[in-house]
Amino acid sequence: MKNKGMFSAIVSANEKNSEQFYKLELVFDGDGAQQFARARAGQFAELDLANCKLPQAENIPDDLKDSANRKILLRRPFSFSDVKAAGDKTNVEILYCAVGPATLRMTTLAKGDCVSVLGPLGNGFSLPDDKSKAVLVAGGSGAGPIMHLAKQIKADSPNVEINVFVGAATREKLPFENCWFDKLTTGGAKTTVATDDGSAGNKGFVTDCVLNWLNENKSAASETIIYGCGPEAMLKVLAEIAAEKGIDCEVSMERVMACGFGVCQGCAVECKINGSDKTIYKMCCKDGPVFNAKEIVFKTKV
Ligand SMILES: Cc1cc2nc3c(=O)[nH]c(=O)nc-3n(C[C@H](O)[C@H](O)[C@H](O)COP(=O)(O)OP(=O)(O)OC[C@H]3O[C@@H](n4cnc5c(N)ncnc54)[C@H](O)[C@@H]3O)c2cc1C
Ligand code: FES
Repeated sequence: MKNKGMFSAIVSANEKNSEQFYKLELVFDGDGAQQFARARAGQFAELDLANCKLPQAENIPDDLKDSANRKILLRRPFSFSDVKAAGDKTNVEILYCAVGPATLRMTTLAKGDCVSVLGPLGNGFSLPDDKSKAVLVAGGSGAGPIMHLAKQIKADSPNVEINVFVGAATREKLPFENCWFDKLTTGGAKTTVATDDGSAGNKGFVTDCVLNWLNENKSAASETIIYGCGPEAMLKVLAEIAAEKGIDCEVSMERVMACGFGVCQGCAVECKINGSDKTIYKMCCKDGPVFNAKEIVFKTKV
């Protein structure tokens, strides 16, 4: 059986989840069901959205009106917020934000539509087998894979204490309404929300909450692991916190992607060689998207 492939999936639901986020549910059968049932949190798939129709003009946000009609040439990468195998089918959930022509079209997918999906791709997060505490940090659309990871840790490493931190600029930019918040908390994970303007949860950056929590919940650095998925500026701060405290840290990087499996060389991530000043370029799609935070040369200034 193949490790990854091109599969057809059927849309079982596509609904607005919060002010800016949607949740797409895809059902795979056959080989696709078997491959996606094994998908790890942090892996992703490339969706062909070229033939999806645009929403009605009045439903296109003003800031996307200009870009909406751009032709979609390339597939688009998305991680999973949940994967459930049920009999000979596998259900895959994607939490997404409409930010441009492809994701805008994605909002018009309806129950019964067929989508071409290439995947599962990339490496995914490692599971914290030798740790007692996992700190999961999501910014914006990074919430999807972080939710998936929380679920996988709970299932595979039930003794690990899971602490989830979710950040966004404002309440409107959070990826979930109450039901998603409940889903995280009832899953056994303690969840802390932060918004830059304080309109939901704690006021300030989510990384400040992580630092406070680490200072208040001291345990051996070797027993804790931090996972991050979100904007590069957030990942950079997480990497600095982890380095200062000597805690292992994995971050899921984002790059604009074309092929999705290491051929076009379009998704380079600069990485240090063994902690030295020498660097090489790794491919986000194939060597990542999850990297050890220590090796990344972050491109953003904080
Ligand atoms: C491994 C991976 C997993 C992802 N998982 C998710 C997910 O679960 N949910 C979700 O909502 N989005 C996810 N994304 C981002 C998603 O792929 C983009 O939002 C999408 O491709 C945008 O397509 P578009 O045509 O709508 O907008 P575009 O016009 O292509 O992009 C709109 C804006 O977003 C920027 N952008 C687009 N793609 C990326 C990228 N990969 N990295 C950084 N900036 C980008 C563009 O520069 C532009 O400013 C993921 C990206 C990667 C690489
Ligand atoms: S997207 Fe082609 S090499 Fe990564």
